[in-house]
Amino acid sequence: MNPVILCYATATLLILKFMDSAGLGAVARPEVTFTPNWGKVFTGESIIITCVVESTVENPIIFWYKNGNQWKIDKQMFTIDYTKIEDTGDYQCRAPTGDVSEIVRLEVAYSYLILQVPSSVYEGDDVFLRCYSWPGFSLRRTLFYKDQSAFLPSDGGNGLLLSNFKKDMAGKYKCVKKDEQTAIATYSDETFIHVRELFSNPVIETEPNQTIEGDRMTLTCDTSLTKHREITELLFAFYMNGLKVQSFNSSNKYLIPSIQLEDSGNYSCEVKTSRKNVRKKSQEMNIQVQGKYLVMCH
Ligand SMILES: *[C@@H]1O[C@H](CO)[C@@H](O)[C@H](O)[C@H]1NC(C)=O
Ligand SMILES: *[C@@H]1O[C@H](CO)[C@@H](O)[C@H](O)[C@H]1NC(C)=O
Ligand SMILES: *[C@@H]1O[C@H](CO)[C@@H](O)[C@H](O)[C@H]1NC(C)=O
Repeated sequence: MNPVILCYATATLLILKFMDSAGLGAVARPEVTFTPNWGKVFTGESIIITCVVESTVENPIIFWYKNGNQWKIDKQMFTIDYTKIEDTGDYQCRAPTGDVSEIVRLEVAYSYLILQVPSSVYEGDDVFLRCYSWPGFSLRRTLFYKDQSAFLPSDGGNGLLLSNFKKDMAGKYKCVKKDEQTAIATYSDETFIHVRELFSNPVIETEPNQTIEGDRMTLTCDTSLTKHREITELLFAFYMNGLKVQSFNSSNKYLIPSIQLEDSGNYSCEVKTSRKNVRKKSQEMNIQVQGKYLVMCH
């Protein structure tokens, strides 16, 4: 009787990754904020400038930058009591050992009318725009514009609320007011609204990256949420060949306890905020499960 030799031919699990190199910038960068939170003010106003930074010490020393140059070493928070045109500029900050923040612009205007928008806007924010005339200079009938569309003030006065700000809402906004007396002369101002990413484009990952039929496999949906909107709750869903295999859940993992050949396919994941409708989908990852099988040899 010929001995039967059992040969285990273990095929490797082939994972082809179709992914872009989405930036997973997990490092918490500091941020310059203004109080009140406007990127544009009139001359003679008072504003507080703060460097929002993670620090192990209380009242850390901050390196301040203005228009790209090192400007001063100061406290984390300071006040400009009476803004001047020269205070206009691009502000940045950093802790002695950390990264430098993104640029936040302050514009100080000596004019009749300014369109005020928050100095930094993230996807999903409710953004309040204020068409603000020089105190004592009476203007009326406010209208806001974006591209060819006009919007009436949402509060009947000077303000426009844009809920759940999306990337495609970024751009140049304008507001117009008429003179109280003549109702003919018009004044206007334009301001650009940039929008910052709330969380990075998700990337789907597998663990382990070499599995064979019957093995346990975990898919992870990896993204990073900005530190500046940390309380945002993210939910994750998983798809196979475009069909949902795990509904939105706070867990960013999808577990397949025993992967089978028919689990081969294109996997992707989606991230959304629990309260605001900010959604992003990952690229697909093709997973080909290959069998663990017996081959009879002589
Ligand atoms: C697979 O995982 C091993 C160990 O975790 C790692 O060294 C290797 O670089 C990974 N290969 C790929 C293609 O990701
Ligand atoms: C998976 O994606 C690849 C590349 O985009 C495509 O050619 C293939 O048809 C997809 N497979 C399925 C089952 O959707
Ligand atoms: C989220 O997933 C966990 C673990 O798989 C499960 O226990 C929980 O019920 C899920 N929650 C929702 C809302 O589906």
